[in-house]
Amino acid sequence: MSTAIATETPLLVYFSSVSQNTARFIEKLGLRAQSIPLFASEPMLVVDEPFVLVTPTYGGGQGRGEERGAVPKQVIRFLNVEQNRSLIRGVIAAGNTNFGDAFCAAGDIISRKCHVPHLYRLELFGTSEDVTRVSEGLERWWKLQ
Ligand SMILES: Cc1cc2nc3c(=O)[nH]c(=O)nc-3n(C[C@H](O)[C@H](O)[C@H](O)COP(=O)(O)O)c2cc1C
Repeated sequence: MSTAIATETPLLVYFSSVSQNTARFIEKLGLRAQSIPLFASEPMLVVDEPFVLVTPTYGGGQGRGEERGAVPKQVIRFLNVEQNRSLIRGVIAAGNTNFGDAFCAAGDIISRKCHVPHLYRLELFGTSEDVTRVSEGLERWWKLQ
């Protein structure tokens, strides 16, 4: 059984590719955050407390099957670590509305597979309204956990 205890403020675990949009959003939030490594050669992150995952969507709505490669492979590798999967409490997805119904699809997939709520969808690096809504909403929601 996991003995991890939730802290006052949520830990964010995020992935951001070379374009660094998600990293910019995380920076604007100013909350505690750890990043999933970009390169497979780097050691995989293993967390030891409950967290909310923030991930961009890739795949462009193309590819095979329902999932359409929307969840970055680095995020899949991170979630394949049993301890990480056991500590995820929610997911926030980033994307681009140009992708139509694949907008933020990664969040829907992770929500379904990990049985956690898809808390928020944001475009690119987020607006100042996204920053306010996410930081206030997260704080409120986290206290209820
Ligand atoms: C090749 C490619 C495919 C993408 N596919 C999707 C998609 O299917 N759905 C979506 O909402 N956004 C999609 N996006 C937009 C990214 O999610 C968006 O640019 C995001 O902010 C990237 O975050 P990052 O810079 O932190 O990696 C795609 C972007 C690229 C370059």
